[in-house]
Amino acid sequence: MISDKMQKELNGQIALEGYASYLYLSMASWCRHQGLEGCARFLYRQSDEERMHMLKIFDYLDEVDGRALAPAIKQPPQDFESVRSLFEQVYAHEQKVSTSINKLVTKSLKEDDHSTYNFLQWYVEEQREEEALMRTILDKIRLIGDGPQSLYYIDKEVEAINAQAAAAEGGQGA
Ligand code: FEO
Repeated sequence: MISDKMQKELNGQIALEGYASYLYLSMASWCRHQGLEGCARFLYRQSDEERMHMLKIFDYLDEVDGRALAPAIKQPPQDFESVRSLFEQVYAHEQKVSTSINKLVTKSLKEDDHSTYNFLQWYVEEQREEEALMRTILDKIRLIGDGPQSLYYIDKEVEAINAQAAAAEGGQGA
């Protein structure tokens, strides 16, 4: 059983995770168009991850006799100023998701909903890892520089980071 209030909050999180999936899909397409195959693979995999984050909440709501709602599709940006600006936007979005998860955790405690509190701990951990991953990429971009001569090296670095992340998940790296 879950309260209407908590169910509404979790549906809000479904929308945020779903939007992240679409945002990263749009970014992957932009990267591919720029010839940044490594960045594209990384973002396609992240997009899949976000969809998985969304579906986990669907399953949870079903388990606690709640109702998960498929969110409206909001159009994400389609063009990006640079690869650096793109990853800054990814990092900012992950910070927004972390803030939202933290608020949900606080609300679950206020509601004495320990089941949802426990469920959300997985997301707390995941957000810590995702923020760290995006910071690693931004640090690499700052070190390499993001002028036209640097894009090849940025792409190789992101490709390597993607392969590591995929291996850690037991996946194929997109
Ligand atoms: Fe599921 Fe990266 O937020």
